[in-house]
Amino acid sequence: MKKTFIIANWKSNETESEAKNWLQAINNSQLAVDEGKKIIVCPPFTLLPKVKEFFVNYQSSIAVGAQDISPFGEGAYTGEVNGREIKEFADYVIVGHSERRINFSESDELVNKKIEQAYLQGIIPIVCVSSLDQVKNLKVDNSKTLIAYEPLFAIGSGTADTPENADKMASDVKNILGEIPILYGGSVTSGNVSSFSKMPNIDGVLIGKASLEPSEFIKLSKNA
Ligand code: PGA
Repeated sequence: MKKTFIIANWKSNETESEAKNWLQAINNSQLAVDEGKKIIVCPPFTLLPKVKEFFVNYQSSIAVGAQDISPFGEGAYTGEVNGREIKEFADYVIVGHSERRINFSESDELVNKKIEQAYLQGIIPIVCVSSLDQVKNLKVDNSKTLIAYEPLFAIGSGTADTPENADKMASDVKNILGEIPILYGGSVTSGNVSSFSKMPNIDGVLIGKASLEPSEFIKLSKNA
């Protein structure tokens, strides 16, 4: 049976008290995560220890991911958070999100450096791509990586890609990289999630906006 990844990307949202409410709501819902689903929550750096601590205390199967990683190791890189620091709290990291490629001018080369830093620490990168050209430039180890296809028009717009297009893109990515888990991201909601997760080449979803409201995220995880 294929595994369905459900990844919550909080982006630059949530204070400590807001996150506490979110975690409590998820816990109260006793979100039953069956064997076939893997939920990963990616909070901002400031909340990584809190979120990790919460899931450990409640023996939750939900995993923690960071939203970025330094392209360098430890050292004099003001403002950066390196892989060794991240690994204390997270087993996954989002790399190359289009919001970083666009707003922070991240190149394919930089994305590859970040992927390398993640591998060095045994962190699984969730590598975001919006075109096949970006895919062709990736240097990834298929057994230690998740790819998220996120078309630019669909991110935060309320208009998702069609499941058929997303599945075709996932199949094209697999033709380039070989067998590797591919997620779809961009305006996924509790209402449309199953149309993506049921597609043969799609192994899960990356969720932005719909992950912020606990009741919507719970519904989405159940429907996936
Ligand atoms: P969205 O964001 O679900 O708000 O469209 C998805 C993403 O950027 O990963």
